[in-house]
Amino acid sequence: MKETQKFADRVIDLKASAIREMFKLMAKGDVVALSGGAPAPESFPTEELAEISAKILREQGTVALQYSVTEGYQPLRDMVVERTRTANKLAEYDDTIITTGAQQAIDLAFKALVNDGEGIIVERPSFVGTLNSARSYRAKLFDVPVLDDGMDLDRVEQLLQTENIKLIYTIPTFQNPTGITMSDEKRQRLIDLAVKYDVYIVEDNPYGDLRFAGEPKKNIKSLDPDGRVIYCGTFSKILSPGLRIGWVSAHRDIIERIVVVKQANDVHTPIFNQMMAAEFMKQYDMDEHIARLCKLYGRKCGIMLDALDNYFPEGCTYTRPEGGLFLWCTLPEGTDTKELLTRCIERKVAFVPGNTCMVDIDAPTRYMRLNYSAVAEDKIDWAVKTMSDVIRESL
Ligand SMILES: Cc1ncc(COP(=O)(O)O)c(C=O)c1O
Repeated sequence: MKETQKFADRVIDLKASAIREMFKLMAKGDVVALSGGAPAPESFPTEELAEISAKILREQGTVALQYSVTEGYQPLRDMVVERTRTANKLAEYDDTIITTGAQQAIDLAFKALVNDGEGIIVERPSFVGTLNSARSYRAKLFDVPVLDDGMDLDRVEQLLQTENIKLIYTIPTFQNPTGITMSDEKRQRLIDLAVKYDVYIVEDNPYGDLRFAGEPKKNIKSLDPDGRVIYCGTFSKILSPGLRIGWVSAHRDIIERIVVVKQANDVHTPIFNQMMAAEFMKQYDMDEHIARLCKLYGRKCGIMLDALDNYFPEGCTYTRPEGGLFLWCTLPEGTDTKELLTRCIERKVAFVPGNTCMVDIDAPTRYMRLNYSAVAEDKIDWAVKTMSDVIRESL
């Protein structure tokens, strides 16, 4: 069969994530990866979870190994609602279900809401998993620059006036990949725009808990006047991404649709994993656990910023995040970070080139994303210095 007939139109344009491809490349050598998006391996409560999993299998094995309900393990749902409510002031009409990571929450929301050709406004740059999900539903993507205080809302309003937009997708807090946080004023204005032009907002907040500096911000969901914000959360960055547990809180009409869509997708999120997360939160203080993560990431981010201050060539700039896992560098005009990456990998250091976070992934960019959470503390300085040497040689 011809390539164009073999696969469905909706997947033909999808490209394997360059980040995942890079993982394969790096698995071969001893590359220091500033390219990851994962939590620090040393942060995982492995001993605690070993005991918890044995206890669950011993005491509730038949529940843990049986089919379960699509909406999620009720004790975990209750805990998640409690945590979400603290930050979000969920409304009477809101409901919450457990999903297989935030990735699935976003994907199911798009699947439930967006028709072929309808518009989704995203940040430029944005999270590659979301871009690919939107592409697979044949949504039309409109990207809007992320400024120092979040999305360019004047541009958002122009698009809302002229295009057929169904929803706006944003990562307002410690954005992936820039580390930028949207200001309070912009959060309110975004809601006002969504109401004025009658569109949904998908608020993706995997990093909000990981604040190591500055003052917490209100989530957009807490400003939602009429059930148009779909809030996606996850345990991936605060407990373990391997457990694959996320959630979505939204108006119950939307959740009802998402439940049906999820049934056709994976029936339910693994019940054993949900029970482990619930038991962990029952036995241990989640806020204390998160506070330890914030301390660790604050320290790692500080080491990376010091190294950038020391070694990064003149003309290169970078964000100074107050939380999350990433910072974003802008290199001088004319630099192509995709090319630079090949040379960096030869010197055993890797980053994410900016083009992978763009709607147009083929266009060269002068941006790079650096991750400080997953790399060993004693490698950060060396990695930034090596990368800086390569950049300097290429300028
Ligand atoms: C912005 C953003 N949203 C969603 C996800 C998906 O997370 P999960 O592991 O919960 O599926 C990620 C993961 O890196 C992310 O960065």
